[in-house]
Amino acid sequence: MKGIILAGGAGTRLRPLTKVTSKQLLPIYNKPMIFYPLETLLTAGIKDILVIVAPDHAGDFLKLLGSGNEFGCKFTYEIQDKPDGLAQAFVIGKNFIGSDNVTLILGDNVFEDNFSAAISSFQSGARVFAKEVPDPQRFGVVEFDANKKAISIEEKPKQPKSSFAVTGLYIYDNTVVPKAASLQPSSRGELEITDLNNVYLHEGTLDVAPVRGRWLDTGTFESLHEAIEFARERELAKTV
Ligand code: G1P
Repeated sequence: MKGIILAGGAGTRLRPLTKVTSKQLLPIYNKPMIFYPLETLLTAGIKDILVIVAPDHAGDFLKLLGSGNEFGCKFTYEIQDKPDGLAQAFVIGKNFIGSDNVTLILGDNVFEDNFSAAISSFQSGARVFAKEVPDPQRFGVVEFDANKKAISIEEKPKQPKSSFAVTGLYIYDNTVVPKAASLQPSSRGELEITDLNNVYLHEGTLDVAPVRGRWLDTGTFESLHEAIEFARERELAKTV
């Protein structure tokens, strides 16, 4: 299983914080944001990691993360020239992925959960993780039938069919590479991860699992603040 951390994007919703740096380098209490998704992958046993960054601050990521020696892993780097969508990670990452399965984590997602079992038990298809949230219209939203089977996923719907958000950790088999390559850009001009998940859903190979504990997408000032409070509480709890 290989890993990808996607740390592209312009972070426009966090201006002016992101005017001179990348969103994923901003501090979440005592660590840069990208350390949190990195720890999630490392804890799950993933040690071969592609970091995809935007061109503007690429050098800063290299300086921060280096070869991976310090973290007991190996980093490969690629540039996403424009924020053309999350699913583009599998187009950019084609050579890195080779013939392996791959776990994608978004560089702005903070998870409390441990995904070791979900990743080691993964065999084929796709496995995504859902969390009940108060503001589902900000996310990909998954609808379940009476048997808890996923029946639809919509990207940022104005009228969400449920309050379950698809979180920013995705496990895919190797068919993700041709599937991502065959996607068409959405109306906002992006290769949508939701469209990719729908390909697996329609194929009948999408598994939606629950996320335990806290989950934060730090894309807004409010959620950034919440993530900092959460990280601080967790850090202070370690010292008592
Ligand atoms: C992206 C995805 C969305 C997902 C979210 C999780 O949204 O498009 O489906 O629910 O990540 O963090 P973004 O945060 O890029 O707006």
